[in-house]
Amino acid sequence: MTEHAMNDAAPRPPRRKRYRGKNPRNFDEKYKEHDPVRHAETVAKVIASGKTPAGSHIPIMMNECLEALALAPGMIGVDATLGYGGHAARILEMISPGGMLIGADQDPIELPKTERRLRDRGFGPECFVAVRSNYAGIAKLLAERDVRADFVFADLGCSSMQFDDPSRGFSFKHDGPLDMRMNPTRGLSAADWLARTDAAKLERVLRENADEPNAELIAMELAGRRFLSTAQLALAIQSISGIRDDEKDLTLRRVFQAIRIAVNEEFTALDAFLRSLPDCLKPGGRVAILTFHSGEDRRVKKCFQAGLRDGVFADICNGVITASPEERHENPRSTSAKLRWAVRA
Ligand SMILES: C[S@@+](CC[C@H](N)C(=O)[O-])C[C@H]1O[C@@H](n2cnc3c(N)ncnc32)[C@H](O)[C@@H]1O
Repeated sequence: MTEHAMNDAAPRPPRRKRYRGKNPRNFDEKYKEHDPVRHAETVAKVIASGKTPAGSHIPIMMNECLEALALAPGMIGVDATLGYGGHAARILEMISPGGMLIGADQDPIELPKTERRLRDRGFGPECFVAVRSNYAGIAKLLAERDVRADFVFADLGCSSMQFDDPSRGFSFKHDGPLDMRMNPTRGLSAADWLARTDAAKLERVLRENADEPNAELIAMELAGRRFLSTAQLALAIQSISGIRDDEKDLTLRRVFQAIRIAVNEEFTALDAFLRSLPDCLKPGGRVAILTFHSGEDRRVKKCFQAGLRDGVFADICNGVITASPEERHENPRSTSAKLRWAVRA
């Protein structure tokens, strides 16, 4: 058989969908970024340009977090927000040999991918277990294993994988169904939540979750309405008269943030997590928490200060730790990050 005839007989691989222009624009088209092992060079270029490659997450304040946790081989601990596993991979390196990391995340879509990624890097069940759990329940995870932790780490909020994937409906930058749930198998989507929320409640949520100065006006316009997509909601916010043009971008960010926090009951979960810390940590055990807005940081700060006063914590960080100017430049998502740590008495 000639080579030509052989080629005719072989089934052709499916063609990659073409995108317009020089570079892919949409999340799904960025196929090289979704496969960082095969396309390391493309991924490195994206990171060097200050962007996060599609389907991944750049860990924030890595060295500061590791230092705050004072890790050593043989330690047992929890990464309560496993995400892409960036912090977890470095933690695992530092607690081996002999250590054990429980990696928890409530996201049923990303968790199996992250577990596979970490297993592929050689972290077997003897040192790493991935659990789909809300961090409100980490005391139970530890009690079930009859252990207390040397360290607990949490990097709050959403991952870049969640934000950047239009089908998860988190961002006004990409059109998608208005969902915003980190665990889409539980609770109401953002569309349903907004449709069922009255103006008084929405106003409170906008103030408490995002310090929104135009809370009353926005709540009157949006409460009880059904928006099918992130773009529809963004357009409705931008069309509200009475908000200055130069305020509109920030307003969009704050409204999306406030609704996301409400839909995921983020403050309820954070309060429960903070209350559970004394039961999770061994004497001398350390907790480090990265926050991304004032509502989160206020809670962590108050909890640590009260714990120090009451003798629950032996030491807490002196002020807040923020990202270096270099990191802020390289990864703009680090700009709002604040790190605090505490040591169990
Ligand atoms: C900022 S990302 C963590 C990124 C991670 N440190 C890394 O290096 O890849 C936050 C993660 O926390 C998860 N998360 C947020 N709230 C949670 C909660 N209440 N319980 C469990 N996981 C939560 C999100 O699903 C997301 O994957």
